[in-house]
Amino acid sequence: MKKIVSKGIVFGIMTSLFLAGCGGGGSSPVLTSADSSKSGAVAKVSTSGVTLDNVDYSTNDATVTINGEPASFSELKTGMTVTITGSVEGAKGKAIRIEREGELEGRVSAVDPAAGRFIVMGQTVVVSAATTYDGLSGIGALNVGAEVEVDGNTNAAGVIEATRLELKSANDINKRFIAGVIKGLDSAARSFTIWNVTVTYGTAIVPTLPLADGQAVLVRGALKDGLFIATKIMLSGSGAPHPTPNPTPTPLDGAALYGSNCAGCHNLLATSAKKGRSAAQIQAAITANRGGMGSITLTTAEIQAIATALAAPVVTPTPTPVVTPVAITTASLAAATTGSGYSQSLTATGGASPYSWSITAGVLPPGLLLTGGTISGTPTTAGSYSFTVQAVDSATSKATASKSFSILVSAATPLIDGAALYSTNCAGCHGLLATSSKRTRSAAQIQSAISGNRGGMGSITLTPAEIAAIATALK
Ligand code: HEC
Ligand code: HEC
Repeated sequence: MKKIVSKGIVFGIMTSLFLAGCGGGGSSPVLTSADSSKSGAVAKVSTSGVTLDNVDYSTNDATVTINGEPASFSELKTGMTVTITGSVEGAKGKAIRIEREGELEGRVSAVDPAAGRFIVMGQTVVVSAATTYDGLSGIGALNVGAEVEVDGNTNAAGVIEATRLELKSANDINKRFIAGVIKGLDSAARSFTIWNVTVTYGTAIVPTLPLADGQAVLVRGALKDGLFIATKIMLSGSGAPHPTPNPTPTPLDGAALYGSNCAGCHNLLATSAKKGRSAAQIQAAITANRGGMGSITLTTAEIQAIATALAAPVVTPTPTPVVTPVAITTASLAAATTGSGYSQSLTATGGASPYSWSITAGVLPPGLLLTGGTISGTPTTAGSYSFTVQAVDSATSKATASKSFSILVSAATPLIDGAALYSTNCAGCHGLLATSSKRTRSAAQIQSAISGNRGGMGSITLTPAEIAAIATALK
């Protein structure tokens, strides 16, 4: 795993890198004839330099890069895997550039202390006697949910052999590696998921082989608003499926355990009154049967997982941005009447407005037209008309939605001419409308006179609508 680069090549690369980095200003350390590049774990860091592979390097003129970003010498720690470029004479060296490499940073999802291995961001890491620890005493002190940073070398099985393991604070989630198998690759949107983490790789450096579902990769980037923004994607283990440790430690889902055991009395995890409680405090509450908690049967590991979940900062996962499909929101179209003006607007949501509308099947009632999103006009012919409307959004991807509608066109009720009906049916006995003795009579009064056969009125056959029209004319 050690990177041994031939002197000539290193000289060429480092010269150009160095000149590019310095822009001509400042004091440029001069490369000697003994230029070399060595990779490995830092054996010792002192005030004046670092020891790597039995060479003590002076670092006064060295530039330090960690995760591709300029860093200070004080950030270098024993056990970090680095590549040192500089000159070496015997056991003394002069570093001009120290690049830290091989780090993996993320949250521990499973630990198997007996086997000396754990999983972080989907990547299996093994520890050995050579591993140095920072912030924790050893793998026995490592908990699921802990945020760690790993230095090491990936072995032939794709497992990281840790040279250094640092416990980070939960806030150290800005620079990470995530490793795992690609699922749900969307090469157009440049995104996929690993371990339910959505990775977007818009401008990331990607391998020359096309990415594919099932491909094991190591992705470098940062977690931002619940999305892992990749800066570089590397094929993992020559593209072989990601190795699973054997036996696979089952990660305990503290949040789920909380949800089923505690949420009922102490609110949802995010708003729990017991945030920040330790495993010991929870155990004590169970032992003391606080509020009936004595009936809870959980293992020490499960209680620990709950405590971890209660300790974790509340992360509100940002929903994965999705292209909203277009949907036509108009539920139905109002009925129409022949001869009467009609106008109904169609509405849609999603995609990019404005939408362009069209009839893709069926016909509109004669007399109506679809213009923009509005169906309008004056229907001429009664009937029920079914048709399909399509809305197409204005995005380049052209999302469309279709919906079937029907418009019922009723024939206009013919106007009943009360005055004319009066003159044909009543004027003979009650005089002209204008001077009728029956003015102001209501439809009910007329109907009862007919029913009562007043003066032979029983022979009159009129519909209620016609009687009403006569009553209106008599007003
Ligand atoms: C049946 C209701 C109930 C359930 C279920 C329950 N608790 Fe409690 N718990 C209580 C009550 C009541 C108290 C005492 C009042 C208080 O402190 O809220 C208490 C006290 C505690 C305390 C000690 C007081 C404190 O604030 O430090 C802790 C810790 C605690 N619960 C955590 C949990 C956890 C974790 C779970 C799930 C494993 C859980 N409880 C499940 C009702 C419940
Ligand atoms: C064949 C003659 C005849 C015709 C036709 C006729 N009526 Fe009459 N109508 C009468 C007579 C007679 C009476 C009882 C005397 C009266 O009240 O004028 C009467 C009574 C009524 C009354 C009840 C009394 C009142 O003043 O409220 C109403 C109302 C009435 N007619 C309205 C009409 C209307 C409206 C028509 C036309 C649909 C009509 N009639 C047609 C002869 C007629």
